[in-house]
Amino acid sequence: MKGMKKGLAQYGDAGFSLFLRKAFIKAMGYSDDALDRPIVGITDTYSSYNACHRNVPELIDAIKRGVMLAGGLPIDFPIISIHESFSHPTSMFLRNLMAMAAEEMIRAQPMDAVVLIGGCDKTVPALLMGAASADVPAILTVTGPMITGSHKGERLGACTDCRRLWGKHRAGQIDQAEIDEINDQLAPGPGTCMVMGTASTMALCAEALGMMLPGGACIPAVHADRLRHGEATGARAVAMAKEDLRPSKIMTKEAFDNALRVLQAIGGSTNGLIHLAAMAGRLGIDIDYAAFDRMGVETPVLVDLKPSGQHYMEDLHKAGGLGPILREIEADLNTQCLTVTGGTLASTIPRTRPGWKQDVVRPVSDPIHKGGGLRVLRGNLAPNGALIKQAAATKRLLKHEGRAVVFKSLADMADRIDSPDLDVTADDVLVLQNAGPKGAPGMPEAGYLPIPKKLAVAGVTDMVRLSDARMSGTAFGTIVLHISPECADGGPLALVRDGDRIALDVEAGMIELRVDAATLAERRKGWSAPVRPARGYYGLYFDEVLQAEHGCDFNFLRREPLAGRGRSGV
Ligand code: FES
Repeated sequence: MKGMKKGLAQYGDAGFSLFLRKAFIKAMGYSDDALDRPIVGITDTYSSYNACHRNVPELIDAIKRGVMLAGGLPIDFPIISIHESFSHPTSMFLRNLMAMAAEEMIRAQPMDAVVLIGGCDKTVPALLMGAASADVPAILTVTGPMITGSHKGERLGACTDCRRLWGKHRAGQIDQAEIDEINDQLAPGPGTCMVMGTASTMALCAEALGMMLPGGACIPAVHADRLRHGEATGARAVAMAKEDLRPSKIMTKEAFDNALRVLQAIGGSTNGLIHLAAMAGRLGIDIDYAAFDRMGVETPVLVDLKPSGQHYMEDLHKAGGLGPILREIEADLNTQCLTVTGGTLASTIPRTRPGWKQDVVRPVSDPIHKGGGLRVLRGNLAPNGALIKQAAATKRLLKHEGRAVVFKSLADMADRIDSPDLDVTADDVLVLQNAGPKGAPGMPEAGYLPIPKKLAVAGVTDMVRLSDARMSGTAFGTIVLHISPECADGGPLALVRDGDRIALDVEAGMIELRVDAATLAERRKGWSAPVRPARGYYGLYFDEVLQAEHGCDFNFLRREPLAGRGRSGV
């Protein structure tokens, strides 16, 4: 079925259902001619809480223009909007809720294709997870990155500079008046964080995956090109409806491999791996972590953006966006993958180098980091894996052994990290427990443990830190994340005690707790699983959320739920 005849509400009389539907939609002022056109749904992810989506209304106008110029009927509809700073306890807790809303509303309402408007970190993966499961022809556009701000002649951007300058404020180098001035400049307009954070990472990975028209990932939110890209996206959605070009034809194993390789080449956010794993699981595809790790050895970091480098997304847009990155790593890509253009990825790769000098996208022969951005770690502390963003770490700490200083929870860390009595030195390893998917809940971006105040004031800027939490893509430091299984799932991280020795060797891909097995077995006797929350979404989340290596999706939302996990996997 097509158009208005699709997915009728069930009254036991299909003719009456269509009659009733048309009566109500005509109250919106549509003519029969309009209602006979291919219908393109548009997800309205605007919210007055979400500055990253401030430009969604004008984007919708542009998309609608494109749909109508191509002979379709655009119909926008609301979807949950998630902003990082307005999502208690953490946006990751809500990503699956947004994915469920997207899937069900795409499926419930009559549309022949859907335009997904993503932007802020969790929104792109949530929309693509939902669209993958609904499997209606879908095309993504994003709100685009913010332009940079300025303070005393220095360019500023959210949120690498938020963290860097807040660190200086904590260390007493920036006073209250100045940090207040800086606060006005860090997010100077609509759009997403303009460094290589999760939003930028997911936009670039989604374009590499084939779900967005070429060039869309990097266009700044305020740029007229952003609206032209929206118009083209709307027009293309009409064609995709006619071609029945569904996400399952585009989001293949080979396409995910392309996105994962781009994740390495851009020095992307650690969150990118979690989100790609969740999206892949919706299509019955498992991420091969060993292969991803090999990609990191083969594919250097080419993009010189903060937090690993120095530039911002508007600079990457001026340098050509994703195109030149794909051209540099083309030999290692599956270039025959289909994209939303209806052609192959190969047809989207620019054939010539630009005729001007730019230093944002480096050639493979002169990368900004020889290994890829991310490294998978294993060892007795992380039997199912852990992750480090080596490109944003301190080189001398990439091989390190130190004494554990343990915080049992986020609350414990907040209480004690700045205490003058905290027994800690710069050579110690800071450990945060119970901050994983179930334990926190929602696996918050708390893996960027602050440097204890007394060390920060003394000039310490980095230490080895590890947890079962995530970290913002905008953050930096020698930080081991996503330790799996998490503490709340009985992982060995729960057994670490103050004073234990912990060894990290990034080149060897190793994270080890140097405590003998008998001692750990004795400690395990004292461990107890957390209590299930009594009701609501939190109860569902607790029952069904999977560990980081499965993207923290709900087990029952995977195409093939994992046996023995959650209530759906028994
Ligand atoms: Fe929305 Fe950073 S807070 S992208």
